[in-house]
Amino acid sequence: MKIPKAWWLGIGEMQVMLAPRHRPPSRRPLWIIILVSLVCVSLIGAYVYPPRQHTPCYLFSSSVCSPLKQWLPPAPARVFTDDEIAARVVIKDILDIPNIQSKNPKIAFMFLTPGRLPFEKLWEKFFRGHEGRFSIYVHASKERPEHESPLFMNRDIRSEKVSWGKITMVDAEKRLLANALLDTDNQHFVLLSDSCVPLHDFDYVYSYLMDINISFIDCFEDPGPHGAGRYSDHMLPEIEKKDWRKGAQWFSMKRQHALIVLADTLYYLKFKHFCKPGMEGRNCYADEHYLPTFFHMIDPSGIANWSVTHVDWSEGKWHPRAYRAQDVTFELLKNITSIDESMHVTSDAKKEVQRKPCLWNGLKRPCYLFARKFYPETLDNLMQYFSNYTSM
Ligand SMILES: *[C@@H]1O[C@H](CO)[C@@H](O)[C@H](O)[C@H]1NC(C)=O
Ligand SMILES: *[C@@H]1O[C@H](CO)[C@@H](O)[C@H](O)[C@H]1NC(C)=O
Ligand SMILES: *[C@@H]1O[C@H](CO)[C@@H](O)[C@H](O)[C@H]1NC(C)=O
Ligand SMILES: *[C@@H]1O[C@H](CO)[C@@H](O)[C@H](O)[C@H]1NC(C)=O
Repeated sequence: MKIPKAWWLGIGEMQVMLAPRHRPPSRRPLWIIILVSLVCVSLIGAYVYPPRQHTPCYLFSSSVCSPLKQWLPPAPARVFTDDEIAARVVIKDILDIPNIQSKNPKIAFMFLTPGRLPFEKLWEKFFRGHEGRFSIYVHASKERPEHESPLFMNRDIRSEKVSWGKITMVDAEKRLLANALLDTDNQHFVLLSDSCVPLHDFDYVYSYLMDINISFIDCFEDPGPHGAGRYSDHMLPEIEKKDWRKGAQWFSMKRQHALIVLADTLYYLKFKHFCKPGMEGRNCYADEHYLPTFFHMIDPSGIANWSVTHVDWSEGKWHPRAYRAQDVTFELLKNITSIDESMHVTSDAKKEVQRKPCLWNGLKRPCYLFARKFYPETLDNLMQYFSNYTSM
C-alpha cells in the first residue's frame, strides 16, 4: 500500500512545484521525475516478482491493474501460502486413500429439517426390505420431531439452530457428515430436506450412488449478480474470482469427499467470514457457494456438477416451485424421473441456459434420484403412485 501512495504524492508535489512559474528554476522536478521512474520500475518489479502470499493485483484496485496487465508478461503462478500447502497435502492424500473395504457398505441418508419429517411413511416404503444397506441421521434445527416410522426413531443427532443462508447451515451439514462418518460402513452420504421425496426404488438409488467414483455436487459458473456478484476480494489469495462457483446445497458425496469437508478449515473460514448475508452490502449464502467452489478447486473431475435432487426453478421466482396435492400426478413424477439433462441458468441479463447431458460412468442416464419441494399434503398421492413411478 505504501508504494502507490508515494507515487501519488510524487505527482502531487510535482504539480505544486511546477505551478508557480516566476520561481527560479530548481533541480527538484528532475529529481522527482527520477524518483517517480524508480518507483515505476519497482512497481513493475513487484508485478513480475510478486512477494509471497500476494497476487500482484491484490495490492491495487483492478482498474490500476488491468492496463498494466495488457503490456506486461503474464504473472507467474501464485506461490501458495503455508496454510494452502498444508491443506493441499492433506486433501491430496485423502483423495488417494482407497475406499475402506467394508463388508457391508451403506449409504447414509442425512435429513436436514427444522422439525417433523412429513414423508417418513414414504421413506419407510423406500427403505423397507433393505435393512443393513442404509443408515439414517436427522438434524432437527428447531424442534425435536416426533417420529412416525420406527426407522427414524433414535436417529436424531445433537443439533443446533440453523439460520437460512448463514454459515450455521454449512455447520449443520458438517455435523451430519461427522456423525455419519463415525460408522465406517457408510460409503456415500446424501443430504436431504424435509420436503424431499425419493424418485426411484432403493436398489436403483443404491447402485446409482455406489457404483460410481464421483460425488454429485451441483456446480456451475454464474457471471451474474447471484453468482460472481457475491464474491469478495477478502477471499484472496486462496480463493480467486475465477474459481468462484455456485450450486444447490443438496449434495451426495463419497466418503473421501466427506472426510475432506471435515478436514478443511482454511477455505471454510473464508466462507464463514466473507460469504454471509449483508456482506459488503450484498447477500452471499455460504451453503450455495462453499462446496461448489471448494470442490471445483480441489477435485473438479471428482464431482458430477449436478445434484441428484431435482428442484424446479422454471417459474423464475425467489423460491423454487413447491408442489401441492393436485400437482402430484403420475405424469408429473414420470416427467421428473425422465429428465436426463442438467440445467443451469445464469443470473445476468443474458439469462443464459446451460444444458448438459447427465453422464453416469459415461452413459446418459436420468439425472435425479430425489425431488423437492413437496408440501406435506402430497403424501397420500405419493404413497399411492410410489410403486408405479419408482419402477420406471
Ligand atoms: C474409481 O477410481 C479408481 C482410481 O481412481 C479407478 O481405478 C476405478 O476404475 C474407478 N471406478 C469407477 C467405478 O469408476
Ligand atoms: C465438472 O466440471 C469441471 C469443470 O468445471 C470439469 O473439469 C469436470 O470434468 C466436470 N465433471 C464431470 C464428471 O464431468
Ligand atoms: C410433462 O412434460 C410434458 C412435455 O414436456 C409437458 O407438456 C407436460 O405439461 C408435463 N406434465 C406435467 C404434469 O408436468
Ligand atoms: C400402476 O400401474 C399399473 C400397471 O401399469 C396400473 O394398472 C395401475 O393403475 C397404476 N396405478 C396407479 C395408481 O396409477
